[in-house]
Amino acid sequence: MQYDEAKLTEYLLDPPSDIDLSSLDMARIPRHISCIMDGNGRWATARGMARTEGHKAGIVSLREIITACVRLGVDVLSAYAFSTENWNRPQHEVNLLMHLFAKTFIDELPLLKQENVQVRFLGDISALPARTREVFEYGLAECASHTGMVLALAVNYGGRAELVRASKLLAQRVLEGTLDVEDIDEASLSEQLYTAGLPDPELVVRTSGELRVSNYLLWQIAYAEFYVTDTYWPDFDRWELIRAILAFQNRDRRFGGLSAKR
Ligand code: FPP
Repeated sequence: MQYDEAKLTEYLLDPPSDIDLSSLDMARIPRHISCIMDGNGRWATARGMARTEGHKAGIVSLREIITACVRLGVDVLSAYAFSTENWNRPQHEVNLLMHLFAKTFIDELPLLKQENVQVRFLGDISALPARTREVFEYGLAECASHTGMVLALAVNYGGRAELVRASKLLAQRVLEGTLDVEDIDEASLSEQLYTAGLPDPELVVRTSGELRVSNYLLWQIAYAEFYVTDTYWPDFDRWELIRAILAFQNRDRRFGGLSAKR
């Protein structure tokens, strides 16, 4: 994605002393960055606040990372907001999250419009409370003409559920006679995923130090580079993102082959 050098320079003024921006290779910015936004609850608890305050602070971080990714020319930013397992949380937290998702989408519409951000949802949003679903549909329509960075929000998303759904969609096509079993391949399965048409994540960032995949984009992260930081999501800012990208750029990506250096 094109990026505006002047805007990027202005956005990255005054880096912390450990960051050397001259080593950032703008030709190798990951096309798709994916964030597992973890640690909102612990961030709040550590400050003697209610967990829900952590989620509110997490939204501020998400806003910053959206802007940072636009400035850096990232093609796709995806973020894990609510898993199919998160329904097991206390009802009041689920209710608050659903309310917050709707409110956030409305509050952030001016930013999404200003930055021409395309919005996609990954997951079964038809199962969300009516008010949240309606707001999502309204927001999607408001952003429908955008052509810039894709923001893919995983809400009511589970990697296994996504693969089951894709299998059913393929089976349906076979039954209808529009697809031959022999023609089922990686490309045809990918087309049935919520991420159809998007490049796979190259960099997956997980905050709060957990070394788990948590049922996230199981198919799509086959060759992604992982970056795990102890920082809780509400403290994850543009500089943390730059640290993750610099670490990514230092990796030797081999895709199962041999390094060019060997
Ligand atoms: C994980 O922290 C975070 C979440 C469950 C929610 C994250 C959602 C947002 C930041 C907003 C997304 C906005 C839209 C519009 C979809 P946690 O509660 O698991 O933290 P813990 O592990 O410390 O308990």
